[in-house]
Amino acid sequence: MEAKTSVKFDPYIERKAFDETQEGVKGLVDAKITEVPRIFHIPKDSLTNKKPSVSLTDLEIPIIDFASVHVDTASREAVVEKVKHAAEKWGFFQVINHGIPLNVLEEIQDGGRRFHEEDPEVKKRYFSRDFSANKFVYNSNFDLYSASPSVNWRDAFSCYMAPDPPPPEDLPVACRDAMIEYTKHVMNLGDLLFELLSEALGLKSDTLKNMDCLKSLLMLCNYYPPCPQPDLTMGISQHSDNSFLTILLQDNIGGLQILHQDSWVDVSPIPGALVINMGDFLQLITNDKFVSANHRVPANREGPRVSIASFFSSSSLPNATVYGPMKELVSEENPPKYRDITIKEYTEGYFVKGLDGTSHLSNIRI
Ligand code: OGA
Ligand code: NI
Repeated sequence: MEAKTSVKFDPYIERKAFDETQEGVKGLVDAKITEVPRIFHIPKDSLTNKKPSVSLTDLEIPIIDFASVHVDTASREAVVEKVKHAAEKWGFFQVINHGIPLNVLEEIQDGGRRFHEEDPEVKKRYFSRDFSANKFVYNSNFDLYSASPSVNWRDAFSCYMAPDPPPPEDLPVACRDAMIEYTKHVMNLGDLLFELLSEALGLKSDTLKNMDCLKSLLMLCNYYPPCPQPDLTMGISQHSDNSFLTILLQDNIGGLQILHQDSWVDVSPIPGALVINMGDFLQLITNDKFVSANHRVPANREGPRVSIASFFSSSSLPNATVYGPMKELVSEENPPKYRDITIKEYTEGYFVKGLDGTSHLSNIRI
């Protein structure tokens, strides 16, 4: 008896066809598709492996109030203690009273959404996969041609906003002013965060800044269109961030989940709050003292959902600085756990691997 031959599924050809539309997932939704194409399907085994989500009442990521950080030494130390606990035990926290005005947060959300909802012909002018040749890049799934097992239900644009932002006229009108304004505030908050994190390590306030952790900023705007079959795909697959630190602004739809003690914990949206997480590079230089936690966003019928992720990282930009576990944090009893590496080399490995649910840190562990 002859086995029934099935039509061969070549994900590369189908991914390429999707890519060539240059209209991303938004283009599929605008074309009113009712079924999620198979390149987006998550492998069956990862479906059955799904760990249960934990609701907010069981576990909650730390919420830290920065209102008192500049009041006096004792109140600053109290904040540092909370930051230390969150960075070591969770790798994540939410911050309130961070000093960024609500209207600035609203403007960047609105601006990001405006760009993604522009006429496709306008967006196509910015379409690229070359992050080193272009500062402002719009596409869907930066890791489309990598080893990632499935494509995410998400479009994105990104731009290097520091240390050398593009001339304003190179930014789309839809989000230009909002990006420039938000960058100023994110740099200030980043400055404070790296001071508090340095203090949490028992080091001088400017230690992490002196290591250029604050120097480069990559701003990313994710756009998650509503999904007709959310059980079949993911908004963003499980990953940890290719950064020192990430400041994330999510909208009121929610959906961000972090992996904590083997359970997926919802990061419930708090109006006006920002989500802070340690990236792979902070875990590396702190020799695992701070954790770069895995996180993801499931697909959702509700949407579009917009989030702005500000990564402190030079990622694919040329940068010869070599990073390894900090001398102050290693000893004979606590030897370096990672080899030295440049951010550029790390990023290349991160991109080749794609968002496949594993951490690229494990590849440079000694
Ligand atoms: C990211 C990310 C989460 C979100 O862009 O790295 O984790 O809520 N985004 O969009
Ligand atoms: Ni992330």
